[in-house]
Amino acid sequence: MKLVHSKADLAEQIAEWRHNGEHVALVPTMGSLHAGHLSLVELAKEHAERVVVSIFVNPTQFGEGEDFEKYPRSLELDQRRLKTTPADLIFAPDDDTVYPFGLEDATRIVVPALTEEFCGASRPGHFDGVTTVVGRLFALVQPDVAVFGQKDYQQQLVIRRMAEDLNLAVKIITGETVREDDGLAMSSRNAYLSDDERARAASVYETLGFVGGELQNGRRNFADLEAQAIARLVERGFDVDYFAIRRAQNLAIPDRDCDELVVLTAARLGSTRLIDNIVVTV
Ligand code: PAJ
Repeated sequence: MKLVHSKADLAEQIAEWRHNGEHVALVPTMGSLHAGHLSLVELAKEHAERVVVSIFVNPTQFGEGEDFEKYPRSLELDQRRLKTTPADLIFAPDDDTVYPFGLEDATRIVVPALTEEFCGASRPGHFDGVTTVVGRLFALVQPDVAVFGQKDYQQQLVIRRMAEDLNLAVKIITGETVREDDGLAMSSRNAYLSDDERARAASVYETLGFVGGELQNGRRNFADLEAQAIARLVERGFDVDYFAIRRAQNLAIPDRDCDELVVLTAARLGSTRLIDNIVVTV
């Protein structure tokens, strides 16, 4: 497995594969890789002969006062982890490679639809940074397929919309959320949790499961159910950013007959923000 940093080295490798008629899948990440990321690499390999994993902590998707500085960076460890997967190439560019005109003057991609609520509301500008960087990674790697995690439900919907709206020749695939034994969704940010917070963190998935069960049982008073879930999390010491039951397809408010729902939440334990979701087919 090769590691490249520059545009030229990346282009050379991609050109060689293309010359051989091989397809390329991209798994964009910010590194600090865990089993969730690695599962996306495995999934990517099912869709293309070659898999590129990008590792880039993207400054434009972090807001003022967020954790850009302290975000865990561990390229050597990531390299070792990827050796156990079918990844063919790691692309680890620096800021100048991704943003040759600097961060301020960078051309941006903005997807107004789907980004107003939820993580878009609590992290203004976050999704603009995500679509801007993912668009750049697509332009650099020119993948046939790109794989994202369901863990970031809103993110994968926004990226799907961008690809469709810009008619990009890339197929977007979403991989399932990988969890710890107690149900906590794996995340690079879990490392911020204290022991006590880590013990309580499983309540997020438990609460999603409770709501999922109620929906399966035919409960349709969505607002009451959301309020009940929020109360449950607050009782366990969470500061709830949002907890919502929406239409899985587009995050619209569902009517009673909607048969594919997503239950999504973001909640803080101390200074750590956890997000998670489940899709419920009824
Ligand atoms: P990052 O948080 O590193 O996540 C990289 C990819 O891994 C995303 O598609 C995310 O949804 C997925 N992922 C994270 N935790 C997962 C889990 N527990 N199970 C399965 N997949 C999981 O998301 C980003 O980086 C960035 O916003 C990025 C898309 C790379 C743009 O900078």
